Amino acid sequence: MVKVAVIGCGYWGPNLIRNFNELDNAEVAMISDLRPERLRTMSGKYPKMQVTVDHNEVLNNPDIDAVALATPVETHYPLASTAIKNGKSVFIEKPLTASVNEAEELIELAERHNQKLMVGHTFVYTGAVRKIKEFIDNRELGNINYFDSVRVNLGLFRPTVNVLWDLAPHDISIMDYLLGSEPEFVSAVGACHSGTGIENIAYITIHYPGNLLAHIHVNWLAPVKLRKVLISGTKKMIVYDDTEPDEKVKVYDKGIMINDDEDKMYSQMVEYRIGDMYAPKLDTSEALRTECGHFVDCIINDKKPITDGEAGLRVVKILQAAQLSMENNNERVDIRCIRKSPATLSSEKMSKSSTSSTSMAAV
Ligand SMILES: NC(=O)c1ccc[n+]([C@@H]2O[C@H](COP(=O)([O-])OP(=O)(O)OC[C@H]3O[C@@H](n4cnc5c(N)ncnc54)[C@H](O)[C@@H]3O)[C@@H](O)[C@H]2O)c1
Repeated sequence: MVKVAVIGCGYWGPNLIRNFNELDNAEVAMISDLRPERLRTMSGKYPKMQVTVDHNEVLNNPDIDAVALATPVETHYPLASTAIKNGKSVFIEKPLTASVNEAEELIELAERHNQKLMVGHTFVYTGAVRKIKEFIDNRELGNINYFDSVRVNLGLFRPTVNVLWDLAPHDISIMDYLLGSEPEFVSAVGACHSGTGIENIAYITIHYPGNLLAHIHVNWLAPVKLRKVLISGTKKMIVYDDTEPDEKVKVYDKGIMINDDEDKMYSQMVEYRIGDMYAPKLDTSEALRTECGHFVDCIINDKKPITDGEAGLRVVKILQAAQLSMENNNERVDIRCIRKSPATLSSEKMSKSSTSSTSMAAV
């Protein structure tokens, strides 16, 4: 049995507690939150779990094998680095960290201390995204032209992160998993309509080599909930609508063919192919259960997590580039500069403008 501790019992933490605790090969032995009322609620449900308001009791407990973090992003690095140094594997909710530097350090620490580091890119573990990955890997879509994602609703205005760092990790992690390659440039614009200075809407454009373009629209101030991804390939196209109860993924045999017969008029050069649409059967298991089970399996059987530290780093790199672009009037940011430049520059800016200055010196 892997003994897991969950730190953070706010909105998302209880889902991790339930899923880890229901696994056959793991048990949640300890939970921690700064708010005693959250711990009282959780104790009512799980009376056997040890509770504490002091995360150090978790991090210093030699009986705990693994720590799962469901705390705000600015706490991920300090909590995770201490856990790893104390010989614990770490599962961190998205986004992995608040900066590229922090992500790189956690990867290095986990390797040095021989501990698993996994990021909670939950959508990667959904039946829908895994089915789309199969289509792409089997070349059924042909070459990918673009990836276009919309994630909007009347969402929770977060006090310490903007909508980019809150919602876009989902879309970026789906895109990263499906496309399996790294982009070249990122540009983004955002706006704040609440007077807090924290952006509630953002449009992010991501340029890949080979004319592959991606676009992500995230927004907390929309009257309806949209969770839609369009993927266009040279052979077929996919619409993934996560709000659909059934048939979340639809594959369209539609596209264009270019007729390069010089005698044809321009209007006759583009020919349309309009074929069938079908909705494949999807695995409907709870993604979070699959994800938690995968983390424990990686610990027990010494496997590399699908969403490992490197996957988390790739997502943080795009977020940091988008943040930098947003702060510089939609300037095109070269992803390679995010790696090589003093990344702290932009991450410091981000933590000043978008994340709280919660002191974690005590960790
Ligand atoms: N995978 C997903 O679909 C998904 C969904 C929602 C949130 N998240 C992620 O989960 C994380 C938490 O988000 P949330 O919505 O639950 O936030 P939240 O604010 O509702 O909860 C965070 C909790 O962490 C506690 N906390 C903060 N610092 C702590 C510390 N040092 N020790 C112990 N407890 C501490 C707070 O008291 C709070 O109860 C974020 O990284 C977020 O991005 C993931």
